[in-house]
Amino acid sequence: MSKVTVVGAGNVGATVANVLAHQDVANEVVLLDIKGDLARGKALDSWQQAPIDYYSTKLIGSEDYADTANSDVVVITAGIPRKPGMSRDDLISTNAKIVTTVTTSILEHSENPIIIIVSNPLDVMTYASHSVSGLSDKRVFGMAGILDTARYRAFLATALKVSPKDIQAVLMGGHGDTMVPLPRYTTVAGIPVTEMIDDTSLDAIVERTKKGGGELVKLMGTSAWYAPGAAAAQMVATILRDEQRIFPCCVKLNGEYGMKDIFLGVPVKLGKNGIEEVLELKLNADEMELLTTSEGHVRQVMQVFDDMNA
Ligand code: LAC
Repeated sequence: MSKVTVVGAGNVGATVANVLAHQDVANEVVLLDIKGDLARGKALDSWQQAPIDYYSTKLIGSEDYADTANSDVVVITAGIPRKPGMSRDDLISTNAKIVTTVTTSILEHSENPIIIIVSNPLDVMTYASHSVSGLSDKRVFGMAGILDTARYRAFLATALKVSPKDIQAVLMGGHGDTMVPLPRYTTVAGIPVTEMIDDTSLDAIVERTKKGGGELVKLMGTSAWYAPGAAAAQMVATILRDEQRIFPCCVKLNGEYGMKDIFLGVPVKLGKNGIEEVLELKLNADEMELLTTSEGHVRQVMQVFDDMNA
């Protein structure tokens, strides 16, 4: 029996629940929102899709944390999304309160769940949830790297006129404009990407990736949900299947990359215990400099959170 709770029945949360149900890997998904009817409606709509798309995962909508009891994995998407002109960091004061309250309420009903943070500003919300949870570093982490890497891979697939399935890549750092796509670790069906594309085009794709979330906010007036929701669902499915897949996720670093007490996107191995391993790549000096810049930016926003709670 596996049970997953998704907190927040907005666009992202509902997409996580819906995509996860399609994977047919959890027995039950509880979609929780302060707007209980919205959660119930979206859960019921997704359940009515089950006979068409062939899955058995039960979907339940609720505003009552008691219904989340004994969840194995909890995905927190609650919080306000960006509006045009806002950076993810502008959301901190509102979303920090929401994410810490949600974390505390979840832990009143589930003893030792794995918590995946999706709310923004991502790296600092992961820090906030981890801080109030008292859970192990392996069990509280954030979704951003899969999404950012997916954007990078999708842009490359368009430019190279190949299937996105064949693009593999690593992207590190914070979920913001300082994120670090790594062309040296990017391949097209095993072929180094630099053999397939010129530097100028690749640089343009890297820059577009860094602002990928903002591009969508401009287009839609709110932030994206299909790819973010699918990315979080992929993490949950990997954990429930204990697949030991490698993805970039936001985790607490304990000396890896020479960094401590920071939540940052790095490649990890995901399995039934959450973060099974943090992988340490041999970055060159240029890549390390970019990662250090990203670290500095995330630390500044972590400090804003600390000052709010001082
Ligand atoms: C984005 C939001 C989810 O990058 O941060 O689209």
